[in-house]
Amino acid sequence: MLTTATTSTAARLPSGERGAFARDLVAGLGSRPRTIAAKYFYDAEGSALFERICRTPEYYPARVETRILAEHAREMAGMIGADADLVEFGAGSLEKIRLLLGGMDAASASLRYVPVDISRDHLAGAAAALQAIHPALRIVPVAADFTQPFALPDGRRRVGFFPGSTLGNFHGAEARALLRRFAGLLRGGGLLLGIDLVKDPAMLHAAYNDAGGVTAAFNLNLLARANRELGADFDLRAFHHYACYQPMTRRVEMHLVSAKAQRVTVGGRRFAFAEGDAIHTENSYKYSIEAVRELASASGFRPAACWTDPERLFSVHWLETL
Ligand SMILES: C[S@@+](CC[C@H](N)C(=O)[O-])C[C@H]1O[C@@H](n2cnc3c(N)ncnc32)[C@H](O)[C@@H]1O
Repeated sequence: MLTTATTSTAARLPSGERGAFARDLVAGLGSRPRTIAAKYFYDAEGSALFERICRTPEYYPARVETRILAEHAREMAGMIGADADLVEFGAGSLEKIRLLLGGMDAASASLRYVPVDISRDHLAGAAAALQAIHPALRIVPVAADFTQPFALPDGRRRVGFFPGSTLGNFHGAEARALLRRFAGLLRGGGLLLGIDLVKDPAMLHAAYNDAGGVTAAFNLNLLARANRELGADFDLRAFHHYACYQPMTRRVEMHLVSAKAQRVTVGGRRFAFAEGDAIHTENSYKYSIEAVRELASASGFRPAACWTDPERLFSVHWLETL
């Protein structure tokens, strides 16, 4: 239940990126079900925690996608071509681009790499680390929210790279709108898309509930971030990480569940939680290969090549712009 504000919320909200987080969190806590976009996981701390998730034994998507990219890097690099801007959406640690660059030889000298990520400080650090390994590569990092209009360097053919199954965080209509937006940006090229596949729910459950508690820490970092950036007063010990696979909707849902009746203040607004009340923090939709191809066809792309692993756990698709 939303209780009355003692001070004007607008007067207390910070401007810019923090303002958007505050506005969306206050709106999300006031809505039913309580919900917040997954993009807010990613401040520097959240990005570092995501890198740790990728190294947990349970989180197969990172390992399997890496294997697929390593195995087919040369073929994929041939499709991307030289003399292009390679725009990576939600680029994270910039680890996976290294595999594609490995398949490019001299072609990488004429490639310009444009990693786009919402996690500004993490992006700057990752770009500097990549530059140290590939001194000749032209890197133009763009700190931006790719769901909003943003500027890209101009003048060259553009090809996209969207690994990590980040597209899975968007439900059907949102995923179509996002791919259409990317198709509009990627003139004269295509998109290399990495997306997780439907599988045994037990394996999915384990991937989002690692024994070391890293995914729980990642989920709870959303509240820690609100405390750090917005002066909120979430008690992190009073919320539990909960993740489960819903076969009817083919998605893993992540929630933060209140362990007791409590009140929390965010941006001058007070929010009441009963024991068991939840904040829905992430969806991760799982696809069949056919469903990815249908989605791409409905969103401005022509599905072309597809690579997967022998167990069909994960898929990488080359989608051509129309
Ligand atoms: C699931 S991680 C994948 C990271 C990396 N691509 C990989 O494959 O390991 C999602 C990444 O997308 C970024 N991200 C999420 N939402 C975003 C948005 N709306 N705009 C820009 N970047 C976003 C996050 O900061 C994070 O680096």
